[in-house]
Amino acid sequence: MTDRRPDYPIDPIFHTRWSPRAFVPAPMPESDLLRSIEAARWAPSAFNAQPWRFVYSLRGDSSFEGFLDLLDPFNRAWAQHASAIVFVVSDTMLRYDGEVSPSRSHSFDTGAAWAQFALQASELGYHTHGIGGLDYDRAHQWLRVHEGYRVEMAIAIGTRGTVEELPEPLREREGPSPRRPVSELAFRGGFQ
Ligand SMILES: Cc1cc2nc3c(=O)[nH]c(=O)nc-3n(C[C@H](O)[C@H](O)[C@H](O)COP(=O)(O)O)c2cc1C
Repeated sequence: MTDRRPDYPIDPIFHTRWSPRAFVPAPMPESDLLRSIEAARWAPSAFNAQPWRFVYSLRGDSSFEGFLDLLDPFNRAWAQHASAIVFVVSDTMLRYDGEVSPSRSHSFDTGAAWAQFALQASELGYHTHGIGGLDYDRAHQWLRVHEGYRVEMAIAIGTRGTVEELPEPLREREGPSPRRPVSELAFRGGFQ
């Protein structure tokens, strides 16, 4: 049994979120997905540039198969049951005060937005699973992502299914994972 107890008291939303691969192949209302994107929208970003963009397909959309097809076969095998696939894209350029320059933090900022997306989805009773295993060049082209924007990752979102629905090798990996202790990642006074 994985120890999921936090070292310090926090809101349970943080440590009860986890990424399953078993999803019930059911539709979800677009409004629920947009509520998660709404939460992402309020993330902080350098110069308030808000570099995040979300390109999504809901289960049942004619584009859904095409979205799945951008994922590696391993990820496609389980993500095909999700209720929506969302590609997270970031603007690599900082557009501020009429000036355009390369952004140092577009991925960092967009990561904060994804975290807020995931937590809001949890709050609504959904589960999310980040996916980095995908064909980035093809996704860029197929999703018609504009020049200067970077495909960061995909998200599978849906209602959690039962572990028996997964192929055998994935069953034993299905479950919440542990974390390093705070003492290993927080350094007072200088990096250790
Ligand atoms: C950027 C990113 C890429 C990921 N890529 C994959 C992936 O390709 N396939 C997969 O099964 N899980 C992927 N994950 C899920 C992580 O493995 C998972 O979030 C991590 O093990 C922590 O587990 P938890 O989310 O259940 O707490 C990815 C997560 C992130 C944030």
